[in-house]
Amino acid sequence: MQVEVNGQWYDWDDTFSCLLDWVDAIGLYTDSGCRSGQCHACAAQLIEGQVAYDDPSLDPGDDLVLLCSARPASTVRLTLGRY
Ligand code: FES
Repeated sequence: MQVEVNGQWYDWDDTFSCLLDWVDAIGLYTDSGCRSGQCHACAAQLIEGQVAYDDPSLDPGDDLVLLCSARPASTVRLTLGRY
């Protein structure tokens, strides 16, 4: 499965439990805080595709994805940061 981040495509590694850990591992920087779905510091824009949350109540909607709490469920296109 592939994930586009800020216009560049990468291979998703299914050994990661969330997109935030994966983004860190591939050397991209994004804001983070609680790493538990509460502070929304890690929110990114979801341009296309679907993500899955272990706890669906954490889904912020509005085309945002909480990187600390979600994994790709399809090919996904993201822009880091919400602005
Ligand atoms: S780091 Fe706090 S919601 Fe993701």
